[in-house]
Amino acid sequence: MFDQTIFEQKLATSWLGRSLCYFEETTSTNSVAKTISLREEGHGSIVLADAQSQGRGQYKRTWVADPGENLTFSIILTPERSHSLIVLTLACAYAIRSCFEERTQYHATVKWPNDVLVNDKKVAGLLTETVFKGNKLDRAIIGIGINVNQADFGEELNGWAGSLRQLTGHTNPREELLADLLLRIEHCYTKWLQHDVELVKLINSTLIGFGDWVTIEKDGERLAGTFKFLGINQTGALTVLDQDMELNTFLYEQIRIHPISADSQRKH
Ligand code: BTN
Repeated sequence: MFDQTIFEQKLATSWLGRSLCYFEETTSTNSVAKTISLREEGHGSIVLADAQSQGRGQYKRTWVADPGENLTFSIILTPERSHSLIVLTLACAYAIRSCFEERTQYHATVKWPNDVLVNDKKVAGLLTETVFKGNKLDRAIIGIGINVNQADFGEELNGWAGSLRQLTGHTNPREELLADLLLRIEHCYTKWLQHDVELVKLINSTLIGFGDWVTIEKDGERLAGTFKFLGINQTGALTVLDQDMELNTFLYEQIRIHPISADSQRKH
């Protein structure tokens, strides 16, 4: 069971995670965060569950995680603007990868649009959703699933999913990890609000395929030719050069980037 007292002791943020809404089990923390009253849980609140019965992933997939072993939570944010939320999502992915790099000997990367990978295995995924009241953004929900202490993912997922425990060889306190991650995300959020170009540069430096020639898949179909992947721009659009050196941008999450030569993920 997630220990809220230890978490509060470890938490060093000014506002993020200062209010935690904990469930032993719920349907989906994103669903709860979308409907919860903002009078009770406002900007920076976290909805966390030890188990989700209807955990959701991108593209209508389910997110399955062993109860009590992982981190499944949603961050409620109420920024003035709704554009470039993709940059914020990627900034959270960047923060997650930093937590993994600090705790393991491996290089961690971000795979557009929502995965954190170590040694080619997915260790975390993000699902950002929005709630609008009329034209105005009511709240943005950043749902995060991190594989922390899960030892095994079953036959179907073992080749694809990995956990911090598998990488370190021991269990890791989830409370300390979450407190550390939220501090990093809080810093990133400030940079995001300020349209800090450094944030985009940092994100790009960790994106799989950045600076490489890649192939692109759009809606499951491979586009003709190869492209030089220039990362995201300030608005979060993917930018690539085609073979005629023309700049193309894609503001679209149904894009997949496939590096032509896979780099080794080990640091040394
Ligand atoms: C993905 O990789 O497809 C995104 C996975 C996001 C999973 C998290 S777990 C907490 C939050 N609640 C959900 O139902 N989904 C997100």
